[in-house]
Amino acid sequence: MKTARLAAPLLLLLAACPRLDPMWDQPKVKAYKASKHYPDGLAMRTPPAGTVPHRAPIEPAVATGRGPDGRPLPVSPVAVTAELLARGRARFDVNCAACHGVLGDGESQVALNMSLRKPPSLHQFRELADGFIYQVISEGFGLMPSYAGQLSVQDRWAVVAYVRALQLSQYATVEQVPPEARERLQKEGR
Ligand code: HEC
Repeated sequence: MKTARLAAPLLLLLAACPRLDPMWDQPKVKAYKASKHYPDGLAMRTPPAGTVPHRAPIEPAVATGRGPDGRPLPVSPVAVTAELLARGRARFDVNCAACHGVLGDGESQVALNMSLRKPPSLHQFRELADGFIYQVISEGFGLMPSYAGQLSVQDRWAVVAYVRALQLSQYATVEQVPPEARERLQKEGR
């Protein structure tokens, strides 16, 4: 009984409370907003003469996955190294495998339970341009959200390289296997 009698005034008090997080409501300007502070009425400022970027700017093709003609780059602009592939594998396993499966074949717990649109096997996209896969990761595709927040530009290209490796792992011909490994494969009867 006592709690019930207390509950109503407590709720009223809570509703009347201002937001408790003071960071929420601080005076600040956002990009592209107007500001009365500067004569030109803009919040954003042009950097003073002589300003240098603290990081090398990313080339547009690398950042967007599109060439100067606006079409997806057929081949990744980032050199594929063992290190890049290892990074791609780690990032793929964290960000993509839950839906597309660790082999990229679409066999995943999410796929089993997703009725609307199952995450497809990535092996059917062997003909897609590298730049297109990069765009899917950066911008999302249909029901798939963008992973730009989770993956840096370099990491996205690393994932693209690893998707290519996964595709090759399932569709390589014996001729593509180095001779020394070929012998072992045949011995193991694979
Ligand atoms: C939450 C589940 C989920 C995750 C995680 C996910 N995807 Fe997808 N992905 C999907 C779904 C669903 C589709 C199909 C979307 C559609 O057709 O509407 C898709 C489609 C795709 C396609 C095909 C686009 C086409 O042309 O049809 C590619 C390539 C792809 N994803 C790559 C990736 C990569 C690489 C990652 C990791 C960075 C990833 N996905 C993470 C669910 C996911």
